[in-house]
Amino acid sequence: MDNRLRAALSSVTEQQSGRGLIDAGRIETANISGETATILLAPPVAGKSDLATLQPQIEAAANAIDGIERTRVIMTEHSETPKAPKSPKAGHKHARPKTAPIQKPAKQVLVVASGKGGVGKSTVAANIAAALARDGKAVGLLDADIYGPSAPRLFGLNDVPGLRKTDDGVQPLEAHGVKIISIGFMLKPGAAVVWRGPMVSGAIKQFLADTDWGELDVLVIDMPPGTGDAQLAIAQDVPVDGAVIVSTPQDLALDDARKAIALFDQTHVPVLGIVENMSAFLCPHCGETSHIFGHGGARAEAAAIGVEFLGEIPLHLDLRKRSDEGLPAALEDGPIGDAFLRTAKAALTAAETLTKPAPEIIFD
Ligand SMILES: Nc1ncnc2c1ncn2[C@@H]1O[C@H](COP(=O)(O)OP(=O)(O)O)[C@@H](O)[C@H]1O
Ligand SMILES: [Mg+2]
Repeated sequence: MDNRLRAALSSVTEQQSGRGLIDAGRIETANISGETATILLAPPVAGKSDLATLQPQIEAAANAIDGIERTRVIMTEHSETPKAPKSPKAGHKHARPKTAPIQKPAKQVLVVASGKGGVGKSTVAANIAAALARDGKAVGLLDADIYGPSAPRLFGLNDVPGLRKTDDGVQPLEAHGVKIISIGFMLKPGAAVVWRGPMVSGAIKQFLADTDWGELDVLVIDMPPGTGDAQLAIAQDVPVDGAVIVSTPQDLALDDARKAIALFDQTHVPVLGIVENMSAFLCPHCGETSHIFGHGGARAEAAAIGVEFLGEIPLHLDLRKRSDEGLPAALEDGPIGDAFLRTAKAALTAAETLTKPAPEIIFD
């Protein structure tokens, strides 16, 4: 930790213990990148969140350091009740502290998930968001992949100043018509974060609740890979319409997709369907299609488990290139843009069908 930041943070005291924040073990990480200081604050050991009290004090102390223009303070999670001792039989009801329900941030909230990383989940999430924005919808993207945030890169927002907070909340950044919030905006590019499960879910919930999304038609959430704590917490605590599962056609990726589907089933989040990514190779030179990873695996899998097949996204060099350039390929007409828009619309239609109230049946 930067020494000047260490001194500044020691001068802020935690009300509860009367100790400086560093002695009280409240600083998870603190770093300076350019003119921005970022402080990740651990929750108080017990009692309510003291973020409202600490944030202005930390900002004042850090902003007083020469060369620091802005300070971001993030509290990773606060629990209203002390944590119950860990035991496998702790019982579902008491296993997690109750938090206030999060208001639905958009008319439709989709999570994009996969069992494992590298299948193109972030690519699909970003391009679905871009395709819908291009189609005239008010769209938000929450990059909840705390371990490997990719929205800043995918939307060309790697070197932007920090997030602004107004009375209405944290202001998302906007690119290509999509409002974006990512943990990546709060971390130094290239810095890896290792957070414990509950802290991850706390941070994600806080992002969702504190952001001033405005009036959104659709919010797309790019989930962390896997089927761990974070996924469970989001699935249970965030008002989600349904999950879009991304898989490649290979058996291995499909196995992982099955696991992700089982998790959502457990937590009663409807699975809207499967997207097959890297479905066929579209050669940029000859225009020919080849099925490098096989073909139709996801479609067959969707049929076998009775979920919808939402679409196929071709494997295409442009998609990779444009992702690295921060210009989602779905912003343009053509086979890639069309594939994403079709898939996005299929997911929204599936969500609408699922959330329509069932007709009332009256028995007399
Ligand atoms: N359909 C595709 N065609 C070409 N490259 C792709 C495609 N989908 C994903 N990629 C590339 O594969 C890599 C992993 O994709 P990413 O979306 O980051 O995966 P995940 O979020 O599942 O870890 C990235 O470099 C991305 O550009
Ligand atoms: Mg990703």
